[in-house]
Amino acid sequence: MKKGFIFDLDGVITDTAKYHFIAWRNLGAKIGVDVDLKFNEQLKGISRMDSLDRILAHGGKENDFTLEEKEALAAQKNDEYVTLLQSLTPADLLPGVKEFLDQANTKGVPCAIASASKNAPFILEKLGVKDQFAGIVDPATLHKGKPDPEIFIKAAELLNIKPEEAVGFEDAQAGIDGIKACHMFAVGVLSGEPLHGADVTCHELTELNMDELLQK
Ligand code: G6P
Ligand code: MG
Repeated sequence: MKKGFIFDLDGVITDTAKYHFIAWRNLGAKIGVDVDLKFNEQLKGISRMDSLDRILAHGGKENDFTLEEKEALAAQKNDEYVTLLQSLTPADLLPGVKEFLDQANTKGVPCAIASASKNAPFILEKLGVKDQFAGIVDPATLHKGKPDPEIFIKAAELLNIKPEEAVGFEDAQAGIDGIKACHMFAVGVLSGEPLHGADVTCHELTELNMDELLQK
């Protein structure tokens, strides 16, 4: 019997992946690294600084910038990303998310967010669902990013449940790997690329039966 739901944000609650892509692609253009859609897949679920490191390595520029310069580049990317986020409204929730959260709240099943994004509280506020989460893991407190399970273990702690008592929702392979590494039940939300190791997959949350999930 499961007692709580733990959600990734980007690609599960809302499609902010397209805004991350625009902002990274534009930053890449400034420093001469081509960030295309296929390479962008490797950035899903990965923290801002780790994403920048991957982009620099992709362009063979891993030794071209000091830490200070890299922090400035990451800040530039985030400024553009946050500008793009200003237009978010509750209409940007992915299909079935609002209904799923309402149903969980009605049933008394607590929900938490396990996202590497430091912008998560702001995004949830814009989407009008922040109050529906009992906890949001602060990624600044983490020692390791996904695929390490730390963020999912912390999210379960926020809900006062064990990882194996939670159902985790993820659209990125790094996230599915983190969920499974702490023995949580994994729902893979597909957006094109296959997800390996998920216990159940769907294209949107409307396809899921909550009572069946809680009995896993
Ligand atoms: C999520 C996204 C990543 C993003 C990371 C950090 O995991 O999938 O693409 O890099 O959050 O987001 P932030 O808003 O803090 O830059
Ligand atoms: Mg995601």
